[in-house]
Amino acid sequence: MRVLVVGGGGREHALCWKLTQSPKLTRLYAAPGNPGMAQLAECFPIPVMDIDGLVALAQRERIDLTVVGPEDPMAAGIADRFEAEGLRVFGPSQRAAEIESSKAFALGLMHKYDIPTADYAAFTDPEQAEAYLKRKRPPFVVKADGLAAGKGVVICPTIEEAREAVHEMMVQRHFGDSGGTVVIMDYLEGEEASILAVTDGEDIAVLAPAQDHKRIFDGDRGPNTGGMGAYAPAPVVTDAVLSDVRERVLLRTLRAMKAEGRPYKGVLYAGIILTADGPKVIEFNCRFGDPETQVVLPLLEADLLDLFLAACEGRVKEVSLPSPRRASACVVVASEGYPGDHRKGRPISGLEEVERIPGTVVFHAGTAQKEGRIVTSGGRVLGVTAIADDLRSAITRAYEAAGQIRFDGVYYRKDIGHRALKRT
Ligand SMILES: Nc1ncnc2c1ncn2[C@@H]1O[C@H](COP(=O)(O)OP(=O)(O)O)[C@@H](O)[C@H]1O
Ligand SMILES: [Mg+2]
Repeated sequence: MRVLVVGGGGREHALCWKLTQSPKLTRLYAAPGNPGMAQLAECFPIPVMDIDGLVALAQRERIDLTVVGPEDPMAAGIADRFEAEGLRVFGPSQRAAEIESSKAFALGLMHKYDIPTADYAAFTDPEQAEAYLKRKRPPFVVKADGLAAGKGVVICPTIEEAREAVHEMMVQRHFGDSGGTVVIMDYLEGEEASILAVTDGEDIAVLAPAQDHKRIFDGDRGPNTGGMGAYAPAPVVTDAVLSDVRERVLLRTLRAMKAEGRPYKGVLYAGIILTADGPKVIEFNCRFGDPETQVVLPLLEADLLDLFLAACEGRVKEVSLPSPRRASACVVVASEGYPGDHRKGRPISGLEEVERIPGTVVFHAGTAQKEGRIVTSGGRVLGVTAIADDLRSAITRAYEAAGQIRFDGVYYRKDIGHRALKRT
């Protein structure tokens, strides 16, 4: 089978890495890919939003399956376009992807179908949003409705901060049209987890529950980032929690989407807070998480290509995934200054040394090839991932490996997995 992976970050590198383990794979393509992916796939410099270009590539190379990594092309209707051309694609339709691309839609759906989440209200008028804030108690969670690259959510301890957030989103349009509608959601107290499932719209195959680390500094301080590391399985998600999320969140959501005429296929990712009242959804994503994918896929003892085909062909019912027997951790190695301004083009060393450490794999995120060397080209540069029999060993091994990576201005968090380690 000829498979195309769309995207060029750590998530897509992990997808390629896992797909190459499938005996069914004959040829792997990526667009645009990155230098890490280039070791596994033939890369074409087509941007993820150039849907015409991607369709043309899939037709020319007779691709059997296209796997889409990021949310933007999903929200732009890449799956609909591919299917209209008779091309097989793993990912939801544009209308189904609204579960991520409109937080107001997702919250409306959850309330209509009794899927556990928090109270909320959605506004297109800033004055009405302010009036609502006056009736509620802090802390407030203010969210831009649309996609905002993980920057459109502000947790506000005071009403003044919430007003400011509403003003920035709705009036100043810091996130463009994504802030035309704003959602104000009750604050949920508890530990967070990411639960990802592969689905054909009817049945699900649930992957190892993961936890990521969004803040830049140790102790979960400082500004939010795309994600500074992750681990799986997250022990806070017990078997009981997982089966609850499976029934009351994931399966209920699939039935709801079907009832709304938006059958869902692809990855359904539930962002959960484990409250004293049980798990509640803070958001859905319509694709694999980054960096959760980098820890979830190494634990998957199944053929990923088979799983994607099962989702595309409505056969997920026949799939049963073994529970993860090992544990994994990913330390994101970033450029100093990220998520703010940071330098690029710094030569990276230590990659070969790390590859020699057993149970370790380095996923490229923000790297480029320059004069025969791998250099930094983004804020999150590498996802150094290790797998071991238990979480503590996986974390230790990931840090040993991360310590081998050298470039000018290298930065990573030192406390990935701290919540899980505290439990054991
Ligand atoms: N209702 C809520 N209560 C508490 N924290 C929340 C709530 N909603 C979001 N958050 C926090 O804000 C972060 C980002 O919100 P999320 O809805 O996941 O949006 P996005 O990933 O699109 O930025 C979450 O990871 C979580 O830490
Ligand atoms: Mg999120």
